Amino acid sequence: PAPAFAAPAVCPTATPSASPSPTSSPTTTPADFRPGAAGIGDPYFPLDGNGGYDVEHYALDLSYDPESDVLAGTATITAVATQDLSAFNLDFDTRAVDGTDSIVIGEVTVDDAAAEWSLESTQISVETGQPQAPGSTDGDATPPRTELTVVPEQGIRTGSTITTVVAYSGVPITIDDAFGPAGVFRTPTGAVIVGQPRVAATWFPANDHPADKATFSTRMTVPAGLQVIGNGRLAAQTENGATTTWDWEMEAPMATYLATATVGEYQITEHDEGGIAYYNAIDPTLFTREADGGGAFVGDVATSIFDDEPEVIDFLSGYFGPYPFGQAGGIAIGFTGPDEDLQYALENQTRPIYPAWAFPADADASVVVHELAHQWYGDSVALGRWADIWLNEGFATYAEWLWAESQGGLTPQETFDYYYANADDAFWSTVVADPGAAGIFDGPVYTRGAMALQALRTAVGDEAFFAILKGWASDNAGGSVTTAQFIDYAEQVSGQDLTALFDAWIFTPSKPAV
Ligand code: ARG
Ligand code: ZN
Repeated sequence: PAPAFAAPAVCPTATPSASPSPTSSPTTTPADFRPGAAGIGDPYFPLDGNGGYDVEHYALDLSYDPESDVLAGTATITAVATQDLSAFNLDFDTRAVDGTDSIVIGEVTVDDAAAEWSLESTQISVETGQPQAPGSTDGDATPPRTELTVVPEQGIRTGSTITTVVAYSGVPITIDDAFGPAGVFRTPTGAVIVGQPRVAATWFPANDHPADKATFSTRMTVPAGLQVIGNGRLAAQTENGATTTWDWEMEAPMATYLATATVGEYQITEHDEGGIAYYNAIDPTLFTREADGGGAFVGDVATSIFDDEPEVIDFLSGYFGPYPFGQAGGIAIGFTGPDEDLQYALENQTRPIYPAWAFPADADASVVVHELAHQWYGDSVALGRWADIWLNEGFATYAEWLWAESQGGLTPQETFDYYYANADDAFWSTVVADPGAAGIFDGPVYTRGAMALQALRTAVGDEAFFAILKGWASDNAGGSVTTAQFIDYAEQVSGQDLTALFDAWIFTPSKPAV
């Protein structure tokens, strides 16, 4: 279906030539103002995020029509300039694999004045998720990373707040790369929005990197009868006749990839417990779908595991400190594509997304434990660089080990011993704290990352170890961190020199001695 309006890829007012004509109005941008960088500086994903500003708030006002798949509306981005800017970029993956505009941009304003804008797309490697040379192929194509460059009428001085509004309409792309499918997935009743690291820019213009977190107001209007499940607090649900408008407020800073506004028919349950508002959503088709292992339905298992969320959060709080948000819950999704389930669950802030396999017939809650642990490590404390993803995945895996012990399973040390004795050479060849762009979700990042924490626990003792975990979460709540900071922090709390330990466990591609 055609988007609601059509526009060329360069806005009509853009100046095609670099040299201004003598009759054009005098520029109010001082000559020493510079464009912000096209990337925030991530060595793995150099075009993710942008330079020159920090976003404070995203206000999305969108509508989604499952009949046509068209997503339309405005994104209002409030940001503070961190340099004198003549122009700046937003990541907005509006183009399909073949380079055509899938989402069309209507108008861009900066501080209420129309701004010039242009789009530039870069081919992305399916294998690594990184930019690659034009024309080169490494297998199936995946949609390009597209940079939206905004040239405001007036230059923006360092420290000033800028409000950018982008109007757009079209069918969002879906990404299929080394990390599995991501983006806006059509389902029989709506769409699931999920992915990591690339997803946010498929549905809104963003400074798309966890190093720049912001609060979110997500308004989504859908046909009456459908639900929209977002992050944080449901501030309003407004019936407008044929449509319903859902307003979600995420009042704590959030990394862009953790945002969702999943649309469909969901069975909702809500309750308050321990000062946390729980909001859970289950796709009704899961109540007639047999769970892995057999003898139970996925929806029933999801219901019982979601009922245990307060107990899991209570358990994790004992080790990690207070739960970082005012809301919690989860979304159990049904279909995510024409023929397969999503291969991963995701720690969407306050409201993780779970495919059916997360709810096995034996009601093992480990996936929910993992995603809830990410609320501390990954969400509240986010990554400054994707290379440090063990700070998310190693910690969430360690939480699973703690939970297993509490359920009468192996102790973390026994789990460590098992992997130490049985892991193969490939496992030991991963550099946990620098697994490569294509390797950010490799098994050893999770398991050997958790082993590194168990090695740390053995070295510093339980008291210092849990003081490190708690203090790391509370000191960095709402921020973004690096591995180097974690090592410094662990050394400071324990009073030990931990260089050799971390070298062996996270920086060396071979099996450490114990
Ligand atoms: N962070 C997710 C988890 O630990 C994994 C996401 C994997 N991402 C992907 N695109 N395959 O549960
Ligand atoms: Zn994880």
